[in-house]
Amino acid sequence: MNTRHSVTVIGLGPMGRAMAGAFLDRGYEVTVWNRTASRADALVERGAVLASNVEEALAANELVILSLTDYAAMYATLETAIDALAGRTIVNLSSDTPEKARAAALWAAERGAVQLTGGVTVPPSGIGRAESSTFYSGPQHAFDRHRSALEVITGRTDYRGEDPGQAALMYQIGMVMFWTSMLSYWQAIALAQANGLSAADILPHAVDTANSLPGFFTFYAERIDDGQHTGDVDRIAMGMASAEHVLHTNTDAGVDGTLPGTVLEFFRRGMDAGYSGESFSSVVELMMTGRG
Ligand SMILES: NC(=O)c1ccc[n+]([C@@H]2O[C@H](COP(=O)([O-])OP(=O)(O)OC[C@H]3O[C@@H](n4cnc5c(N)ncnc54)[C@H](OP(=O)(O)O)[C@@H]3O)[C@@H](O)[C@H]2O)c1
Repeated sequence: MNTRHSVTVIGLGPMGRAMAGAFLDRGYEVTVWNRTASRADALVERGAVLASNVEEALAANELVILSLTDYAAMYATLETAIDALAGRTIVNLSSDTPEKARAAALWAAERGAVQLTGGVTVPPSGIGRAESSTFYSGPQHAFDRHRSALEVITGRTDYRGEDPGQAALMYQIGMVMFWTSMLSYWQAIALAQANGLSAADILPHAVDTANSLPGFFTFYAERIDDGQHTGDVDRIAMGMASAEHVLHTNTDAGVDGTLPGTVLEFFRRGMDAGYSGESFSSVVELMMTGRG
């Protein structure tokens, strides 16, 4: 069994297929398994070995990459081959909560396996690329041992320590931004379309707006860490007026107001909590106490 140039990939959705493909590109011997076996066809044509069951897939390699929808899918898959888990390093790149990642690491350890949690920050097109990055956490020795193989998946790796929940946490922090940002983009396109503009028409403006955000992130990060929400450059009362304009521009055009209404609701709660003269960053305080 060659742990350096041989790997098993379980789960062949778009991500798992891209990962298995990246390993093949680098000359690895790749064993794959997927619930729907036909998803392996193109990989098998390129030289991957399709295991006939999960047990065979686990037996083939010490290093096992999991790319499944969630951890429930992991249990559904691995519970069919419990006896083959001992001695394996399971790199779980499936999305789920930090708590589920921690529970799964214990579950694996009780069966003689080591789990490394991973959170890939790029879509399938970014797999195998030097500039792409993945968060990892779990036993350092397992990370160090398999680092060169993990760098095939994404050229950059960001190890976040022994707690198996940390990589999942970092991944979910990225995802909360991704989903809400993309929804804001869909909202902008709906508003544009309702006014006779296309997505292409607003693309440069949308990109400029998104590109302005890192400056705001950087400016507010230090203040927030200092617990400072001084209303010297913005005030929540101003934010509330602006959020009302946004909401009504949408509803006047017949566009759904759920998302802008939620933004307005946060400003309203800030006002009610007595933050009217403070920065809109004080919304973080409401969120922290669960009042937001
Ligand atoms: N796509 C992205 O851009 C992206 C980016 C970063 C991270 N991720 C995360 O990476 C993971 C994989 O992504 P993906 O896009 O490849 O996901 P996907 O299309 O949902 O693929 C999921 C895989 O999980 C398998 N699966 C689901 N439920 C199962 C079950 N109960 N038993 C056995 N197998 C099961 C599927 O098998 P079948 O083929 O048989 O259905 C498939 O192989 C997800 O957790 C996702 O959140 C995705």
